[in-house]
Amino acid sequence: MMPNILIIGACGQIGSELTIALRDKYGNDAVIASDIREGSQELMESGPFEILDATDSKAIAHVVEKHNISDVYLMAAMLSAVAEKNPLKAWDLNMNSLLHVLNLARDKKINKIFWPSSIAVFGPTTPKNNTPQRTIMEPSTVYGISKQAGERWCEYYFNRYSVDVRSIRYPGLISYKTLPGGGTTDYAVDIYHKAITDGTYTSFLNKGTFLPMMYMDDAINATINIMDADTKDIKIRSSYNLSGISFAPEDVASSIQNHISDFTLTFNPDFRQDIADTWPNSVNDTDAQNDWGWSSKISLDEMTEIMLKNLKSYYKKESL
Ligand SMILES: NC(=O)c1ccc[n+]([C@@H]2O[C@H](COP(=O)([O-])OP(=O)(O)OC[C@H]3O[C@@H](n4cnc5c(N)ncnc54)[C@H](O)[C@@H]3O)[C@@H](O)[C@H]2O)c1
Repeated sequence: MMPNILIIGACGQIGSELTIALRDKYGNDAVIASDIREGSQELMESGPFEILDATDSKAIAHVVEKHNISDVYLMAAMLSAVAEKNPLKAWDLNMNSLLHVLNLARDKKINKIFWPSSIAVFGPTTPKNNTPQRTIMEPSTVYGISKQAGERWCEYYFNRYSVDVRSIRYPGLISYKTLPGGGTTDYAVDIYHKAITDGTYTSFLNKGTFLPMMYMDDAINATINIMDADTKDIKIRSSYNLSGISFAPEDVASSIQNHISDFTLTFNPDFRQDIADTWPNSVNDTDAQNDWGWSSKISLDEMTEIMLKNLKSYYKKESL
């Protein structure tokens, strides 16, 4: 059976690309994009769109019924840096949106859920290198607390109500199509934009701050693959570690310098440094590899080539 898909929070950094990838796979009309705001021209023109607030359970139920939805991808959330400024609002959005969707699956109104977790579930007491799937998790940000609680709810709904919910702990994601939404890893997108527009960048994370990262195409593939996997192969119903590349700001700068030799990088760490300091340098994703065949494809240098090529042509068009 072909799924009818609803993406909630479709106009953000991940949703924008996920919507197009799912429309390519299942057909434009089978993928309903929704958000509290309109998205890119490509997203708005390529298929159906609904204005939908993820905290409004009745409105979600209405859209699910109207479009006969089977699968929901819940991408709406308040990200780490913004959440620290609005802790209770972040908790309300991140938790209640998930519970609304889990309840729809419990009540058999939908079949399958994708909900993203994050490396933010880890905290300062977690082993920092090659962080295991199961380890100490004492997140210190409200974003991390909401993701960790979300993981527990997902597993609980699977065990108690057989809800088919699947989840990945995304690392920091890098893409050129949509700007990031206020996370701690956003520097790794900004740096490419500034390399082209200014030839220099001041990083809000310090030299030597290694974090798990990934190019968007790998993250979209992982999302589609975990949702395609046989139910019996999804052995972890909280959320899977997912590893791509691990680097610090100066590594991105060297990679950029292979293309723009006079690019310079300076450092001016802000409050986001304190968040980054609590997160892993790299994570171990053996379970995702073994259970549903995950493998990452795109290296730092390949990502740099893609980012610079596409952003160059974007800024060239802008200046015409
Ligand atoms: N981007 C990353 O690097 C990253 C890393 C780890 C986890 N994640 C997770 O992936 C998911 C998507 O992240 P993203 O980077 O695309 O975020 P984003 O901030 O770019 O996009 C979120 C979207 O949700 C929408 N939204 C906000 N409040 C809403 C509401 N009440 N109802 C409906 N829509 C609402 C926003 O308008 C926005 O379009 C989130 O759960 C995030 O925590 C992202």
